[in-house]
Amino acid sequence: MAGTAVERLARGCANALLAACWLLPVAASAERVRDPQTLAEGRQVFEQHCAGCHGSRGQGLVKDWKKPGADGKYPPPPLNGTAHTWHHPFSQLHRVVKDGTARLGGSMPAWGGALSDRQIRHTLHYVISLWPEEIFREWEARGGYQ
Ligand code: HEC
Repeated sequence: MAGTAVERLARGCANALLAACWLLPVAASAERVRDPQTLAEGRQVFEQHCAGCHGSRGQGLVKDWKKPGADGKYPPPPLNGTAHTWHHPFSQLHRVVKDGTARLGGSMPAWGGALSDRQIRHTLHYVISLWPEEIFREWEARGGYQ
């Protein structure tokens, strides 16, 4: 009933392949959010509230964002993919924007009072739209939209 060892092996391989076929598209399927309305709304929020510290296109305004200032706090880093924003999955970025980093000893303001969750999400989608493709893929591999 169970068949020969070879048959079982073959069946196992087929199952393994099937599993791989099933998993692969899931792992590689996250597409960058490009909905124009979402990005336009995010851009508007970004230009109004974020660009003053992070630069009009998230390029950063401080020469060395890795060096803490005289107060021991880190300056606003670039958000355009050249710093480490892509090390953090979406949910963490959302939390940083919503709650700020004062509690962690940083000086990123909390936006939870001024912006809705939807506005924060759309702003992050705009920020992510500024990243080069390979940075987006790296981010995805580290959790991405989670
Ligand atoms: C008053 C200046 C200021 C404004 C305005 C500001 N930020 Fe920041 N932001 C910072 C600073 C400073 C940090 C670094 C915080 C730290 O290291 O604790 C930071 C960090 C961040 C990070 C984490 C970056 C990383 O690489 O880990 C994100 C994401 C971010 N800001 C998004 C935003 C968004 C979106 C807005 C607008 C809604 C915004 N910021 C407005 C100062 C600002």
